[in-house]
Amino acid sequence: MNHYLKFDDLSASEYGYVFERAALIKRKFKAYEKHQTLTDRTLAMIFEKASTRTRVSFEAGMYQMGGSVVHLTTVDSQLGRAEPIEDSARVISRMVDIVMIRTFEQTRVERFAEHSRVPVINGLTNEFHPCQILADIFTYIEHRGSIQGRTVAWIGDGNNMANTWLQAAELLDFKVHVSTPSGYEVNESTAGVAGKISAGRYQTYSHPIDACHQADLVTTDVWTSMGFEAENETRRRAFADWCVDVRMMAAARPDALFMHCLPAHRGEEVSADVIDGPQSVVWDEAENRLHVQKALMEYLLLGPMA
Ligand code: CP
Ligand code: NVA
Repeated sequence: MNHYLKFDDLSASEYGYVFERAALIKRKFKAYEKHQTLTDRTLAMIFEKASTRTRVSFEAGMYQMGGSVVHLTTVDSQLGRAEPIEDSARVISRMVDIVMIRTFEQTRVERFAEHSRVPVINGLTNEFHPCQILADIFTYIEHRGSIQGRTVAWIGDGNNMANTWLQAAELLDFKVHVSTPSGYEVNESTAGVAGKISAGRYQTYSHPIDACHQADLVTTDVWTSMGFEAENETRRRAFADWCVDVRMMAAARPDALFMHCLPAHRGEEVSADVIDGPQSVVWDEAENRLHVQKALMEYLLLGPMA
């Protein structure tokens, strides 16, 4: 059973295939050519947190591939009335072909996957967001070619996105510079890279501008992730100097790209002139969720296609 719960659930060569397939699927989509390899397959999407991009990209993607979708949330399913996640997995996976879950603890998707008869995809947990990094790296490749040997600057919270970048760096051989306020550092063991990360792969910086130095990609995320809203005010104060602005972009390489998984808060983690400026590829990045996840679902269900 192929699940996609963490970025390192696929190998570097599998990523090579998925990126190529996503490029083909995207070309066909742009040419209004059908790509219906998942006819009669059903995707169940379970959302225990809010979403715009993840919902639309998985739902539209599955319909475009000839399949259909069931959308569940905590409030409108028995999950909200304490039905165990294991029982939910046993039942849902007898009725559909593939499941995408967005939830809180990573252990919840793992428990679901352990009791599922069908592939499970992590659509974001407190710890990881592999589908987003899949789209981000695909977007980098589209704009600049291979990410191997490049440097990604992560500015802000040591959160699910930062953790996933670290896993990706080790697997796909690029560097990550991280600058977080004190108290919000990446935890290597939560990121699943403790003792696994090569020397020089990952460097931390007290000042965000230093992390941007020589970066090929500068990226950030909200100061407060979903589920941590109670910390909003404390975080606002702690993160005040971690706004990606034109000074930070100027410290990066001249051809550096800016990415943000969205939703964004202009004037907080990124200035309007950066996110709406010439180095920003955030709209391509968002659109690419559609194309890479179509390739991912197809790969998990059908394996490599000729
Ligand atoms: N980037 C992302 O996952 O967006 P949504 O929360 O809108 O799904
Ligand atoms: N780190 C953010 C990403 C949102 C797509 C969160 O978890 O809320």
